[in-house]
Amino acid sequence: MKRAKDYLIFPLDVPTYKEAIRYVELLGKHVGLFKVGLELFVSVGPKILKGIRERSGAGIFLDLKFHDIPATVKNAFLAASAHGVAFTTVHCDEGKGLLRSVVENNPSGTKILAVTVLTSLESKNLKELGYLDRYVKNITELVMLRARMAKEAGCSGVVCSGLEVERVKAELGKDFIVVTPGIRPAWSLAGKDDQKRIITPYQAIKGGADYLVVGRPIRAAEKPIEAAERVLDEIEMAISE
Ligand code: C5P
Repeated sequence: MKRAKDYLIFPLDVPTYKEAIRYVELLGKHVGLFKVGLELFVSVGPKILKGIRERSGAGIFLDLKFHDIPATVKNAFLAASAHGVAFTTVHCDEGKGLLRSVVENNPSGTKILAVTVLTSLESKNLKELGYLDRYVKNITELVMLRARMAKEAGCSGVVCSGLEVERVKAELGKDFIVVTPGIRPAWSLAGKDDQKRIITPYQAIKGGADYLVVGRPIRAAEKPIEAAERVLDEIEMAISE
């Protein structure tokens, strides 16, 4: 049975090994996975993965959001999965062919999550980028287009905002994993930042999210452990109802 903490992913969005390990030691018992993103991996390298494993039983999500020509992404993915991480991410922008070639070359079984539309993007950004009107007016349509593509390519799931979870689950099935960032508890002080399409942990779980990425609401809190516990209480409430 999945416990509340198994739903929680804490992003180690810090630039140094020392700071990352401080959070691993602080929150190791409160989270299901630690997410290592671009900033930390580029600054510190693979030794951070060893450091996490030595100090916590939590899983590792190596979130490098690959986006390049197919050959490069394929080889970068192979290098990432050789680290034995649970999840990694590939952008949908290169299309189904790229996603499929990554899925078909996956000897380590790392789960591949497709990044649909970043939760920091809103309609005006899509317009600026030249997207069709129907996607500018309704980002969910773009998320769904990409989620369908990811499923057809054989990805394990997607990363999308909490606002789309329900629809992705309803259309693509409960086994298709949904990871949602852009989580802002009602009490969080981190509300006004670059995350635009946000919802609370309770709403995300109720919508069917399998994992929640919660960073700043915990990291920016005066007492990060208490903030993590509050998020876990909210998750617990949603799963026990
Ligand atoms: O909760 P907070 O906004 O601090 O979380 C930030 C994290 O969410 C970053 O690690 C970022 O990479 C991740 N994120 C994501 N996918 C998105 C948006 C943000 O994985 N679409």
